[in-house]
Amino acid sequence: MIRVSIIGSGNVAQHLVSAFMKTDAVELVQVLARHPEHLKQLLDSSQIISDYHQLQEADLYIIAVTDNAIAEVSKQIPFSKLVAHTSGSIAMNVLSDHHRKAVFYPLQTFTKNKPVDFSRIPIGLESEHASDFEIIKQVASAISDHVFAIDSAQRKALHVAAVFVNNFTNHLYQIGADICNEHQLPFDILKPLIEETTAKIMVLSPAEAQTGPAKRKDQQTIEAHLAILNDANQKAIYTLLTQSIQKHE
Ligand SMILES: NC(=O)c1ccc[n+]([C@@H]2O[C@H](COP(=O)([O-])OP(=O)(O)OC[C@H]3O[C@@H](n4cnc5c(N)ncnc54)[C@H](OP(=O)(O)O)[C@@H]3O)[C@@H](O)[C@H]2O)c1
Repeated sequence: MIRVSIIGSGNVAQHLVSAFMKTDAVELVQVLARHPEHLKQLLDSSQIISDYHQLQEADLYIIAVTDNAIAEVSKQIPFSKLVAHTSGSIAMNVLSDHHRKAVFYPLQTFTKNKPVDFSRIPIGLESEHASDFEIIKQVASAISDHVFAIDSAQRKALHVAAVFVNNFTNHLYQIGADICNEHQLPFDILKPLIEETTAKIMVLSPAEAQTGPAKRKDQQTIEAHLAILNDANQKAIYTLLTQSIQKHE
């Protein structure tokens, strides 16, 4: 059985711990956290450590910490081992040269107390040495049905695409909520529309699914909408997205 240890106790680390606890194909050896109390609801206290010198030997160390701490954390692992980070935007080579380097990137938005079905989460993998790819592939396949190879440049591009479809879309929900609020409308009224928009993209391409005044080149409605918006930032975003939809034809 492949022995895996995790470093970190945040959103990704906690979801990985839960996923590894559910599979017999991987042995979760230890989890190292600066604040062990963040993990006590997830696993036995004997498996939680906070000192790098308590780390036992494992086949793979997964570093799931803040992006700018990955390099420093990798230097502190006191063995020369296979070490992977979980970031979408950080190059594999920031990991310490003492280790065989890899990336284990789960493409999902994780929040600690919101459960996820890991089997449906794509995991993008990269390894410095071809012989290590099989190890990370076996570990990823133990928890996910969607495991794929991706190099650092592709992963960074995928991360940008993910920011558009997730973070920016969510920010547009925020703007929608602000506009509703300003006009004494409950945001909940928009939820069936949000659901249908998401459902449509599962069966149609984004180009096929696009509707609305920008797509129809309905200039009268576009101008009426801009007149309703009081916030200069909202006007600028509306105008830019309208132009972007029209340029995409
Ligand atoms: N969240 C997502 O949706 C998501 C999705 C895919 C990939 N990722 C990637 O996964 C990684 C972790 O993200 P996250 O969302 O889980 O972050 P997070 O919830 O903010 O947790 C960050 C973790 O890093 C630890 N940490 C920060 N600086 C450290 C240091 N100097 N030494 C040791 N530990 C340190 C924190 O420890 P303390 O609690 O002690 O501060 C915490 O456990 C990042 O590389 C991120 O890009 C995130």
